[in-house]
Amino acid sequence: MNNNVYWHKAAVVREKREMQNRHKSFILWFTGLSGAGKSTLAHALEEYLYNSGHKTFVFDGDNVRHGLNRDLGFTKEDRKENIRRIGEMCKLFIEAGVIALTAFISPYREDRSLVRKMVAEGDFIEVYCNCSIETCEKRDVKGIYSRARRGEISNFTGVSAPYEVPEYPEIVVNTGSAPLSECVEEIIRYLTARKLLIEP
Ligand code: ADX
Repeated sequence: MNNNVYWHKAAVVREKREMQNRHKSFILWFTGLSGAGKSTLAHALEEYLYNSGHKTFVFDGDNVRHGLNRDLGFTKEDRKENIRRIGEMCKLFIEAGVIALTAFISPYREDRSLVRKMVAEGDFIEVYCNCSIETCEKRDVKGIYSRARRGEISNFTGVSAPYEVPEYPEIVVNTGSAPLSECVEEIIRYLTARKLLIEP
């Protein structure tokens, strides 16, 4: 857009960082309904990765919607912009050699696919947190579903706005029925098979 802005070519490139870190950088993109367990799972996985020497960072509503994206709401357009900015941020974290874990509902296929296309093939790993609306609503950790049902929150995902289930996610975890540790292990198995982690 701005012709006077030049991209500075860094000497310390992603590959060098990855070599120093002894692991690859990539995005683990958790998607699912509110209350499906995205954030819990992302943080549990991060703890495992951090404890085994990986460079990681979790992005979720708390650290993004209160800061960088505080100007955005929950219309289709705002969610698109929310996800686009998060995607751009994750792209920078990939360059920094970090494993970026994101926990956003990201209900629209089109928005998730936009992030997938922003990065190189294989860098975007979509993790569908499969949990029924009934279970999410029963958990209702934030009491937000009952407020949405009372009509106090508009465009609420699963109630008055859609959630589009991923068609070809790299990983599906049954966060509605399987224990947390099992979901964590499943993802680690996938990442290990792809040789993305520090090898013992
Ligand atoms: S996203 O759709 O743009 O990806 P995001 O993950 O950032 O959503 O934020 C979702 C969280 O915001 C929910 O867990 C819930 O606590 C809160 N929230 C507030 N209003 C809504 C709404 N209309 N729909 C869904 N979540 C909402």
